Amino acid sequence: DTPKAPRHFLDIRDLDAATLRDILTTAAVCKAHRRDHARPLEGKSVALIFSKPSTRTRVSFEVGIREMGGNPVVLSAQEMQLGRGESIADTARVLSRYVDAIMLRTDRASNLEELSRFATIPVINGLTEASHPCQIMADILTFEELRGPITGQIIAWVGDGNNVARSWIEAAARFDFTLRLACPAELEPPAAILAWAKAEGAKVEVVRDPRAAVRGARCVVTDTWVSMSDPDGESRHNMLAPYQVTAKLMAEAAPDALFMHCLPAHRGEEVTAEVIDGPQSVVFQEAENRLHAQKGVLAWVFETDGKN
Ligand code: CP
Ligand code: NVA
Repeated sequence: DTPKAPRHFLDIRDLDAATLRDILTTAAVCKAHRRDHARPLEGKSVALIFSKPSTRTRVSFEVGIREMGGNPVVLSAQEMQLGRGESIADTARVLSRYVDAIMLRTDRASNLEELSRFATIPVINGLTEASHPCQIMADILTFEELRGPITGQIIAWVGDGNNVARSWIEAAARFDFTLRLACPAELEPPAAILAWAKAEGAKVEVVRDPRAAVRGARCVVTDTWVSMSDPDGESRHNMLAPYQVTAKLMAEAAPDALFMHCLPAHRGEEVTAEVIDGPQSVVFQEAENRLHAQKGVLAWVFETDGKN
């Protein structure tokens, strides 16, 4: 009898549209009933492993798991034997005997892939240098709360074609919206992911001019100029300076366009204070929705519908 393969949540593109929709539905139910929803994680423990800093991911997973009845075990990779060279494969085999799921934030997508290959329990992507799928589930939840179905809408990404941008590209394919990305040539999303999107028939377009990207968009999204996996330096800042989201740029988008940013933000770099602290900004609703969206993800990996 071969044991059933665990459900991993590694990337948006691994899941079909119906599954992603189910996760968002559970998320919305958990949000509406935050104080009295079911506790389908009763008796379950979830390891949360961080090899990089985190505020939102760490707190939203820890609190969310507790609110679902489960027991979070927060670990810093540097304090584990992982930090002294124990293999990811052995870590996966050992943790699979203690806990019921693992969330990993790591610098390398290959680490996440290896963990999921050797774990006999679900593995969740809490950000790699390549993608950030939990963030995009929260972002779509936020968009739809405020503007209705995202399908058929125009979303603009302005700045670095980074990990968050990649998960947005995958979401454009699955949720069937138009995604226009304005990036400097050196910081375009990887060609392989753009080719994947094209093969999926996704409406994803990369342009240079931020104004061309945001024209008519219902949502403008940006992110830090220097991600945790990037070397900081003057050249990145120079390349990205023309991609700052300003009030002038927001004026080119649809009149009711939302502004999103996964946070942490750097006012005066990727976005002006006027925009991120202004009326179109929904960044704190977005941050809150990490909690609710991840409850949907947790319910799915544990094969419950969010009920007991
Ligand atoms: N947006 C996000 O993932 O934030 P943290 O790095 O604080 O977890
Ligand atoms: N692109 C950013 C996102 C942080 C949540 C980074 O990887 O640092």
